[in-house]
Amino acid sequence: MTASNASAQRSGVRSKTLRMAAVQEMAGLLRLLFETEREFIRTATVLIPRVGDVELKYLLCQHVWESAGHARLLRERGSEMSGFGKGDSVRSDIAKLFEEAIRPEDEMECLAGFYRVIKPAILDAYRHYLEATHHLADWPSRHLVQEFVADEERHLEEVRPYLSEANAYPLLRYLSCVLDSMGGLLGERPAVDLSEDFRWAQDSQKYSHPLTCNRGDYPICSSVFGHNPEEDPIVREWLEDPDTDARVIRLMIYVWLMMELDAVDYLATVFYDTREAPFDLHYDLARHLWDESRHSAFGFRQLPRLGVDLNTLEHSLDLYNILIHMSPPERYAMMTMEFESGSFPTKAKIMDRVRELNDFEADTLLAFDRNDEQNHVRYGHRWLPEILKLFGETRPVEEFVAATRERFGELEGLYGGKVPHSLPPEERLTGKRICSLAGLTK
Ligand SMILES: [Fe+2]
Ligand SMILES: [Fe+2]
Repeated sequence: MTASNASAQRSGVRSKTLRMAAVQEMAGLLRLLFETEREFIRTATVLIPRVGDVELKYLLCQHVWESAGHARLLRERGSEMSGFGKGDSVRSDIAKLFEEAIRPEDEMECLAGFYRVIKPAILDAYRHYLEATHHLADWPSRHLVQEFVADEERHLEEVRPYLSEANAYPLLRYLSCVLDSMGGLLGERPAVDLSEDFRWAQDSQKYSHPLTCNRGDYPICSSVFGHNPEEDPIVREWLEDPDTDARVIRLMIYVWLMMELDAVDYLATVFYDTREAPFDLHYDLARHLWDESRHSAFGFRQLPRLGVDLNTLEHSLDLYNILIHMSPPERYAMMTMEFESGSFPTKAKIMDRVRELNDFEADTLLAFDRNDEQNHVRYGHRWLPEILKLFGETRPVEEFVAATRERFGELEGLYGGKVPHSLPPEERLTGKRICSLAGLTK
């Protein structure tokens, strides 16, 4: 090749690149937004077992799910544009910002970090995108981003009641400095260097999940399942006994559903622990998480209507307390391949019994629960092999699941049954009390 040929080819490459510069610039911004939403999902989820307010847990699950939707649509639109890039990985400066946000011990300080600094920065970034792009040429992106702006504004409103008025958390200032050093999430303003004495908490502090989950002021216990109506709210034998009154069964299944809050708390830990996962895995986990929070809300909303004082219903902590000592693939395997796949026969009988009551709402909630659970088992089959790969696990799935089941049994002996009842039997919701709420004595 002659020198002039080479130079012509180089300038050809350059002009081709320049020709698409307007698209590539916007695709680069979409990529940053995708990575930001991805990282929000991976890190905000660690707050879920840490906060004690049940409604706040539900809300965080909903926001994580909606953010997963943003990320998915950003990736889909970005992939239509030259320059979005391949793969789902997140660059380190974005990851560092989010890692810093979960380090404080006080979970309400972390919540403020997310909702007073990071989420407003995400909102600013979306607004910047709308200003920077061409309204007609990039209409497909604009259409999406306008919706995301509305979602982000609503997220801030929804969390506002849970945020303390105190603005003095040191984290807020640290995160603002980090964002300034990036020039905003999209580099939309001049960057300001971090001061020389800035210390990253993540450099000296590894993150680990709490060994138990927070349930605020609610009473707690090890398990709500048992055999003694004087002690336990869900009496196992009664669930499948054809002589049990259907109204009792309905109350018990609502207690069961509400206690799926344990699944919310332990599933929420899997995102952070699978940083290298493909985004599609986190997308399905986010859906799974939100489904479990809705199932729990079925019980949380319906029980008071049936006369249950939620302050008398102890929350069961055993599953979280045991599973947190297992690896992320073990946690996910127990959840999908054991608890969920094993629940269908009993729940089918319960659904048949509840139908006797002609309670359309109860039938609807149980049907959607069943439909969601079928999807969760599908997710398990789809993603457990991928999670195993991430952790270098080479055993076949069946062998891994069988070994995990056995290990769960061992850990149950070590960590299960350790949470004493907050309430004496006469003050808590038990099988006997459920019978009287249902208007009978069994
Ligand atoms: Fe569920
Ligand atoms: Fe489930």
